[in-house]
Amino acid sequence: MKHILSSDQFTREDLEEIIELTDKVRNNQKEYSHKLDDKIIAVMFYEPSTRTRLSFETAALKLGAKIITTENANVASSATKGETIEDTVKIISGYADAMVIRHRSDTSAVQAASVNKMPILNAGAGKGEHPSQSLLDIYTIKKKKGKIDGIKVAIVGDLKYGRTIHSLLRLLSLYDNIEVYGLSIDAFALPQEYIDMLKEKGIEYKTCNRFEELPRDIDVIYQTRIQTERFEGNFENAEFIIDQKVLDTFSKDTIILHPLPRVTEISPEIDDDPRACYFEQAHNGLFVRMVLLLKVFDRI
Ligand code: NCD
Repeated sequence: MKHILSSDQFTREDLEEIIELTDKVRNNQKEYSHKLDDKIIAVMFYEPSTRTRLSFETAALKLGAKIITTENANVASSATKGETIEDTVKIISGYADAMVIRHRSDTSAVQAASVNKMPILNAGAGKGEHPSQSLLDIYTIKKKKGKIDGIKVAIVGDLKYGRTIHSLLRLLSLYDNIEVYGLSIDAFALPQEYIDMLKEKGIEYKTCNRFEELPRDIDVIYQTRIQTERFEGNFENAEFIIDQKVLDTFSKDTIILHPLPRVTEISPEIDDDPRACYFEQAHNGLFVRMVLLLKVFDRI
């Protein structure tokens, strides 16, 4: 059974194929519009979402599938009564053919898949992983930069709790001659396990505390929100805000990505700058998710 659980499951060849298929589906949408006519997709979100849930649902609908959905599963499902993820999957597999799940627990998607009743697509598991996001990030980088080997990437903001960063680093580690710069305050530094993982793959990781420490010709600045829902207490000076003044210190070829939602870490004044690619990035997610749904059913 095919699941989408972790960015670790992909090889470089898989990524190349997914990028190619995403373009194919995007440019021939009619051809795919009945591929999942016979499928029902359950969409279980135990944490808030705008893009991921609605783009997975739109992807399913565009492929002809039907959806059953709980957007507030942490309060609106039997989870409040103490039902385990495994039991929930056993039940839902009697109704649906695949399940997209977002949950606060790092192990949620793996637990759901362990039941082995239907394909599971991880739409965000705690601070651990968000594989479909990292695939759309890689797709966007490839489209904008034309290559991934040899690029310099800065990850900025909440490197500790940001699951999109954790999944993206796993995918970047499949490429050659990547340089990664981590810009955060110490309290939100990248956990050692990811620094070790990068090192093992021969990727140099440099810790920074100021925008000035990043190379001016950096290819990608991957900005993130401080994940306030994942820790107790307040934070101060944790954001490294990108405004026009900051952006203009970088090359005209540097692109700004963000998984969104943004709070204050990207000033809307840069939205119309051609280097601001986060809305395009979010839109790409729809087509990447269409490919993932087709893949788990072996229909592409
Ligand atoms: C991200 C997430 O949920 O991890 N959002 C998303 O899916 N695009 C990032 C975030 O919430 O900060």
